[in-house]
Amino acid sequence: MNTQAKAKEIFQQPVTTSVIRDGAPQGETAPRVVLVTGGTGAIGTEICKKLARLGHIVATTYRNEDKAKAWQEALKKEGYTFHLYKCDVSDFDACQNAVKNVIQDLGPIQIIVNNAGITRDATLRKMSHEQWRDVLTSNLDSVFNVTRAALNGMLDTGFGRVINISSINGQKGQFGQSNYAAAKAGMHGFTKALAQEVASKGITVNTVSPGYVETDMIMAVPEKVRASIKSQIPVGRFGTPEDVAHVVAFLIDDASGFITGANIAANGGHFMD
Ligand SMILES: NC(=O)c1ccc[n+]([C@@H]2O[C@H](COP(=O)([O-])OP(=O)(O)OC[C@H]3O[C@@H](n4cnc5c(N)ncnc54)[C@H](OP(=O)(O)O)[C@@H]3O)[C@@H](O)[C@H]2O)c1
Repeated sequence: MNTQAKAKEIFQQPVTTSVIRDGAPQGETAPRVVLVTGGTGAIGTEICKKLARLGHIVATTYRNEDKAKAWQEALKKEGYTFHLYKCDVSDFDACQNAVKNVIQDLGPIQIIVNNAGITRDATLRKMSHEQWRDVLTSNLDSVFNVTRAALNGMLDTGFGRVINISSINGQKGQFGQSNYAAAKAGMHGFTKALAQEVASKGITVNTVSPGYVETDMIMAVPEKVRASIKSQIPVGRFGTPEDVAHVVAFLIDDASGFITGANIAANGGHFMD
């Protein structure tokens, strides 16, 4: 039998595993409680949806109550159930409370996706202390606040996945973003240190560094500037929130336990480390 015929025969065989879920290795991953910060944002929404489709129980934090309730309602109509917890992730005590409430309501958190983030761009000469502090506390302190609160639960269950959503600009720097680049680079330092502390306990810690993703933020950039950025991306397009969610789904999988302390770029080749 030639190779083509062999391949055809293999693909025509009936699938014997019970369920094939979206993107998941067949029947390998157990349902777990996931906390995604900033789930109501562009990338966060796709991460929540992807992880819910994989069978996980998904909780997310929010600040803006009206926005969060409308988000929850809209997604309910698409068939998703998401659990909302009010929490400013830059506030240490608020994170301790939110994590405690998630555990009480849903069970031990085994997967954290530290995704909440903001930008407050200015060149350093013009950057206020407030712009610096807001970005550092929302993007970096938040990672400590949430992970610190949930880590003991992961250690107790002997399984954990921590995913920190950083950025290409944390890897290469960016004009006008000394605050954001410092916070995002700091996230990966945190990843590497914690990965070493918990590697033997069934917990992996990884960073995902998206490139330019087609969100409202990018679409608000003038067309000419957008075209110039796009021309620097070898794959010839901006990323999508789904591109980022796909990497998260891969890293949280039970079968990804040998990957820890890594920084996975999802940037279309825009920056190669
Ligand atoms: N978009 C891109 O091109 C891109 C590229 C690389 C990396 N990233 C990173 O990817 C992540 C998500 O980006 P995105 O484009 O999806 O942003 P987004 O649409 O602006 O969403 C950000 C989310 O974070 C939440 N958030 C921000 N600060 C918070 C705080 N202190 N406490 C609680 N929640 C907070 C927001 O909630 P509220 O609305 O309630 O404040 C919102 O849900 C960010 O970390 C960003 O830096 C984005």
